[in-house]
Amino acid sequence: MGFYRPAARDGKDPYLHRHTLFTDRLQLSPITAADADRLAILHADARVMSLLQHGVLSRAQSDALVADYAAEWPALGFGSWTVTERASDRLVGLGGLRIHDGDHGVTLRVALTPEVQGRGYGPELGRAAVEFAFTVAALDRVAAITRLDNIPGQRLLEKIGMVREREFVGGTGRLLLLYALFNPNNGRIQRHGRTSPA
Ligand SMILES: CC(C)(COP(=O)(O)OP(=O)(O)OC[C@H]1O[C@@H](n2cnc3c(N)ncnc32)[C@H](O)[C@@H]1OP(=O)(O)O)[C@@H](O)C(=O)NCCC(=O)NCCS
Repeated sequence: MGFYRPAARDGKDPYLHRHTLFTDRLQLSPITAADADRLAILHADARVMSLLQHGVLSRAQSDALVADYAAEWPALGFGSWTVTERASDRLVGLGGLRIHDGDHGVTLRVALTPEVQGRGYGPELGRAAVEFAFTVAALDRVAAITRLDNIPGQRLLEKIGMVREREFVGGTGRLLLLYALFNPNNGRIQRHGRTSPA
């Protein structure tokens, strides 16, 4: 299972259109400034955010992050998507590819609302994001970081073929796990550190 791109442009920005993906059950749309209101709700939800690096966000923090997400797409050629459940047209999360501030390279991030966790949407998004990373963004390697106690997060990463590389202590003193997957087309050009777009 991979992703496919929409056939019609629907009057949308052609750049964003090229980076909108469909999987069997999800639509992945590049985050733009227009998503600020609905992402503020998601970012304020502890059930979604508490396991992530930056935790629950205030409205101002959320707006700043959304502005960063929106800027990353044109600057890098990859980025973060809103996740919409196609059957209901509901926003059910966000996720995508971001350069990690701890120099772990480009990392996969996924956060879904509790109502849809456990349905395999995380792996569905993860597979599409990794395929995009390797086939469209031409990255050599995608990493992911999860807390040692985040078993659903680790299951998701293992289901999409990511390999556990090592345990390390994060900035807050928390035990974290580093996972990675290498682009089978490019070979293991960069084994460590920052992964660059081609
Ligand atoms: C981690 C996450 C992205 C996984 O996505 P998902 O769509 O739930 O993934 P799956 O449906 O494949 O479930 C993965 C496993 O976790 C279990 N699981 C999922 N949600 C769970 C929950 N809320 N509580 C307990 N177990 C849960 C599933 O039963 C499944 O177990 P199995 O593989 O042994 O059958 C999602 O649960 C989530 O958004 N969590 C909050 C944010 C987060 O932790 N992000 C990941 C950081 S790496």
